[in-house]
Amino acid sequence: MGSLACPNAVFLLLSALLSLLTFTQLTLAKHAAITRHYKFEIKMQNFTRLCQTKSIVTVNGQLPGPRIIAREGDRLEIKVVNRVKYNITVHWHGVRQLRSGWADGPAYITQCPIQTGNSYVYNFTIIGQRGTLFWHAHISWLRVTVYGPIIILPKRGVSYPFPQPAKEVPIILGEWWKGDTETIINQAMQTGLAPNLSDAFTINGLPGPLYNCSAKDTFKLNVELGKTYLLRLINAALNDELFFSIANHTLTVVEVDAVYIKPFKTDTILITPGQTTNVLLTAKNHHPNATFLMAARPYATGPATFDNSTTAGILEYHHPPSSKTKKKNSKLPVIRPTLPPFNDTSFATNFTKKVRSLANPNFPANVPKKVDRHFFFTVGLGLASCSQNQNCQGPNNTKLVAAINNVSFVQPSTALLQAHFSGQSNGVFTTDFPANPPFKFNYTGNPPSNIFVSSGTKVVALSYNTSVELVMQDTSIIGAESHPLHLHGFNFYVVGQGFGNFDQNQDPAKFNLVDPPERNTISVPSGGWVAIRFLADNPGVWFMHCHLEVHTSWGLKMAWIVMDGKGKKQKLPPPPSDLPRC
Ligand code: C2O
Ligand code: CU
Repeated sequence: MGSLACPNAVFLLLSALLSLLTFTQLTLAKHAAITRHYKFEIKMQNFTRLCQTKSIVTVNGQLPGPRIIAREGDRLEIKVVNRVKYNITVHWHGVRQLRSGWADGPAYITQCPIQTGNSYVYNFTIIGQRGTLFWHAHISWLRVTVYGPIIILPKRGVSYPFPQPAKEVPIILGEWWKGDTETIINQAMQTGLAPNLSDAFTINGLPGPLYNCSAKDTFKLNVELGKTYLLRLINAALNDELFFSIANHTLTVVEVDAVYIKPFKTDTILITPGQTTNVLLTAKNHHPNATFLMAARPYATGPATFDNSTTAGILEYHHPPSSKTKKKNSKLPVIRPTLPPFNDTSFATNFTKKVRSLANPNFPANVPKKVDRHFFFTVGLGLASCSQNQNCQGPNNTKLVAAINNVSFVQPSTALLQAHFSGQSNGVFTTDFPANPPFKFNYTGNPPSNIFVSSGTKVVALSYNTSVELVMQDTSIIGAESHPLHLHGFNFYVVGQGFGNFDQNQDPAKFNLVDPPERNTISVPSGGWVAIRFLADNPGVWFMHCHLEVHTSWGLKMAWIVMDGKGKKQKLPPPPSDLPRC
């Protein structure tokens, strides 16, 4: 017995030590944020879709690109290496980039692009956000194939404010051209005409069975009876807002743009480019003896033609081992969802109105109650004259453009943030972006006779902690159209929206300051207006633009400069040493 006493004591001591160790590890794990490293190699890769093979720009040869997974509070270090002939940048869409504006990514706004053969490490921390966002290239039209999900999990030990799903599945909607999109947009910019329409939409890179020669390129989601799934929907399409629906299934929307919302049920969701939407899908309790299509196609309001095709994926039920009627899933009837008509603005309006902040003690809606500065921006299309040697195809050598407050933004040849930080804005930008349209007209009525717009690299400068109210008003110039506006560096609260012209005397009284949705992208309704509020608490240069890429190409963009505050934590740190040069 005596010989056992010693090992026994050692064992006790050891286990005590061990439990102490596990205990400290657990507490550490619960609170400690970590740094996660990723490597993004930008490279060409052949892909075949719709029976045609083409070489596309990818990250690591993947379409969609790799998933970024992090927890709230984690730091990300993503090394982007450029091995293609194009200059590139990557933007972490919706990440607030608090005091890390150098990592935001829009070309010529926060950084010069990464040139062929060079690299840049995007270094930022995810603060106060959890949910689904996405990353995409942010130069020219390269985001058409350079995109992927960002999944931000709650801190370890913290659960969702909805039932824990059995599985989480990213569903990324994209857009596919048979032709080379860089050639397409460059030619369009030369001729001044609208670029070619896409040939297909995609779900996780796959067009699905409703296109010719595409049945084998179909996304499939297998579900088990009675289980609940979290679908992380992302609209990474270039130019189209999309309706999405799954036949015979109701979706519960629980989060938009990485902010939890009051859950609501719907058969169809509307998602604009730049928006993300988390929905819960609960599988039926009994095998339905059918398979179901999930499908997406455009919500289109503008004056131009659009790609009116439909992408689809398949929702399949797993057969329980006990079931007798083991018909192969491929033999079962396929049920298709009914999507709203293309121009169903009343659906769009009702859907948007259902999105409300949780606005509870854990997730408060910190809507700015007092407003320091008011802005009223018209957004829409217009015309501009081309230079004599350009020979544009519009009437009298004109081209299609788009503008905010009649200013079509001219991309500078050096990054605004660098110019601002080094105090060398002369010749790069001016801070006279107009707070109001240059002249008043019936914005949503008959367009004025002069529809020419001016151009320039103009920004709005805001002092630190300014609370901003911005009303964005669609115009009917060339045609009324819904514009999904995206603001970098901030979430904003959508306090109001309406049709016709915004009425400064009547409309503000109806604003929702209690539980408005908090997001990073919102549509200015076709023939209407939307009002947002945000607090300028993030020093840097922040791009704002329509997330329909064609409108961004045409100039529907501008930037806000938020000056440093006085406090130490209110200043933008200096740029990293590997920041690319122009
Ligand atoms: Cu999704 Cu300026 O970007
Ligand atoms: Cu637009």
